[in-house]
Amino acid sequence: MKLMDLFLARPSSMHFLLQSLVFLVLCFHSASMCPKGCMCSHVSSLNVSCSNANLKEIPKDLPPETALLYLDSNQIRSVPNEIFKDLHQLKVLNLSKNVIESIEEQAFKGVADTLQTLDLSNNKIKSVHKDTFSKLKGRAQFSDNPWHCDCTLQQALHGMPSNHEIATNIICETAALKEHTGKSLISAANEADLCNLSKKTTDVAMLVTMFGWFTMVISYVVYYVRQNQEDARRHLEYLKSLPSKQRKPEESDDISTVL
Ligand SMILES: *[C@@H]1O[C@H](CO)[C@@H](O)[C@H](O)[C@H]1NC(C)=O
Ligand SMILES: *[C@@H]1O[C@H](CO)[C@@H](O)[C@H](O)[C@H]1NC(C)=O
Repeated sequence: MKLMDLFLARPSSMHFLLQSLVFLVLCFHSASMCPKGCMCSHVSSLNVSCSNANLKEIPKDLPPETALLYLDSNQIRSVPNEIFKDLHQLKVLNLSKNVIESIEEQAFKGVADTLQTLDLSNNKIKSVHKDTFSKLKGRAQFSDNPWHCDCTLQQALHGMPSNHEIATNIICETAALKEHTGKSLISAANEADLCNLSKKTTDVAMLVTMFGWFTMVISYVVYYVRQNQEDARRHLEYLKSLPSKQRKPEESDDISTVL
């Protein structure tokens, strides 16, 4: 009853309470806009910082006006198709220090035009689809991943503006060509066009097979000739060893002429 009296006596208090309520609702609303475990700050653009937040996956409720997105130092395993597609202002995306193994082909669909910085360093990425990064125009960082250096990786980096720098920082943990293991992708690619290896390998296989057949044929011919020579020699020796009276002199002459 006393509270009611107070309100009735001082309408400005009621006003204040209502204002507070509206403020609280607004606060709650904006808090719900910021994904769990993240801090959202709006200076000139929206900065969503979810570093070190024990995230197992990329939050699906990211505010559409997010411009800076820090998802580094979490346990994120994959980057699904179109996960950032509503973030039309996304400029910086940091996915460093996660356990990302798979990046789907359409993972960066919708943000390729705005994205200036993509950090995927320190993950578990071995390979990606050749078109995953194809439309990205910004700088990217792919170092410290167990990359498999092959034609697909060469193709995936092909259209990227900073691909030379990226390839310098990629160390091949495994490779299509064994001798590229442990080298940087740039030196591997300088040694051999990774997309022409299979053709070269087929050519070499063909050459080896042909050489093999050739050797076999030659060996057979040599063996055959030798064998015949041996037979001829033995035959001749046999003839020579025969008592001369059984042979006509012309015959013996003929044989020596032949030899
Ligand atoms: C974004 O927010 C994080 C956490 O509040 C801060 O450390 C970082 O400096 C901010 N980044 C920018 C570019 O404002
Ligand atoms: C991304 O986060 C990592 C780890 O916190 C940091 O070392 C790196 O500099 C960040 N990269 C960018 C481009 O901000």
